[in-house]
Amino acid sequence: MPRYEIHGGTPLEGSVTISGAKNAAVAIIPAALLVNGVCRIENVPDISDVHNLLNILTQMGARIRREAGGIVEIDCTDVPYTEPDADLVRKIRASYYLIGAQLGRYGKAKVAMPGGCNFAPRPIDQHVKGFTALGATVLEEDGMVDARPGPDGLRGNRVNLDVVSVGATINIIIAAVLVPGQTIIENAAKEPHIVDLANFLNTMGARISGAGTDVIRIKGVKSLRGGFYSIIPDQIEAGTYMAAVAAVGGNVMVNNVIPKHMECITAKLREMGATVTEYEDAIRVQRTGRLRRATVKTLPYPGFPTDMQGQIGVCMTLAEGVSRITESIYETRFFAYCDEFTAMGANIQVNGKTATITGVEKLYGASVAAHDLRAGAALVIAGLAAEGQTFVDNIHYIERGYENLVGKLTALGAKIRRVED
Ligand code: EPZ
Repeated sequence: MPRYEIHGGTPLEGSVTISGAKNAAVAIIPAALLVNGVCRIENVPDISDVHNLLNILTQMGARIRREAGGIVEIDCTDVPYTEPDADLVRKIRASYYLIGAQLGRYGKAKVAMPGGCNFAPRPIDQHVKGFTALGATVLEEDGMVDARPGPDGLRGNRVNLDVVSVGATINIIIAAVLVPGQTIIENAAKEPHIVDLANFLNTMGARISGAGTDVIRIKGVKSLRGGFYSIIPDQIEAGTYMAAVAAVGGNVMVNNVIPKHMECITAKLREMGATVTEYEDAIRVQRTGRLRRATVKTLPYPGFPTDMQGQIGVCMTLAEGVSRITESIYETRFFAYCDEFTAMGANIQVNGKTATITGVEKLYGASVAAHDLRAGAALVIAGLAAEGQTFVDNIHYIERGYENLVGKLTALGAKIRRVED
């Protein structure tokens, strides 16, 4: 099994270029099923979640062409209704967007329940609420989601989400774009990748307004045409490198970012004593002295992202004083890394939704295992900051969402290798 071998303690220096946003790409690729024509998409990250989704679309009959430099062309023009391969679907979370895409395109959908990172219960009742509001009858049985048109067919409607859900917001947008009438999503999520998906669909001829606010309006159109689209930079990948510099020390220019998307992370790292300088599409992070304690509460965008919880957690393990993280999206997410941090010398106590972290002078290398994508990234940062040698196992989780992590870190002077156990 491949694992990462890390020799910690070397400050990070140089520059790193951020790839296209994973969580935008994994929504835009299934949404291409709605399009009658060729979607030429740029800045597609080279990660296993994307490979899996492209494999699913290929298996469904799409014509896919990949070019160097993160360009993917997807042509779903003549794709007949096909059930996506259940084994492939269960490999990733974002395969649930195929339900919305099939419903929008064919008026019916049958897709296996999604897989993906399992750090907490991840229900899809709000997705189902949206599909039902559009007129579908949705059954969940034998590990499958089966959505069919109800007696009056599909029609735009008002959906008020009970929880702010990224996935439900995206899935309802995808399902509604080709449905006659107007759909209004209230209490919608506002993450940058929701805006990116709406921009992609609008470029192809959809009529979506309000993405990025909590009320999104979708006026159904008859068809979408092909076109060109460039995916935004990955907020969480950028945040991960920023946190890495803060935890490990050094001076790094993080290129290809949208500084506005990073504000919450930038503010927290500054509060902790890192020097963060914003440029038009880059951010420089420097850290020399010891970090200071902080408190973080994870929230939907524009709040502090839950996907950065572990990475900021590493910074806190080394900061002076007692820090706190309150997790308000996925309560059980601490357990994905808490024991591993402790094995490396961190002092972390979890009580329900809150982790209390008392900073230590040093972390020490250990053999640890990733239990999900972001916890895995946090362990890599911890290994880079620690004294001695760290092995990180289960790196397939990390490779779901970080393009060329080893190459990018190596270019910053980190001593990290992908080795076979
Ligand atoms: C998306 O997951 C991201 N995944 C996650 O990133 C991210 O952690 C999460 O949003 C929160 O920002 C993708 O975009 C593919 P939610 P998603 O629906 O859409 C509850 C990563 O590492 N909820 O916004 O599945 C849910 O339990 C991944 O990149 C319901 O109750 O998350 C949670 O408490 C991990 N019913 C909250 O809402 C539903 O139907 C937010 O979940 C849906 C969600």
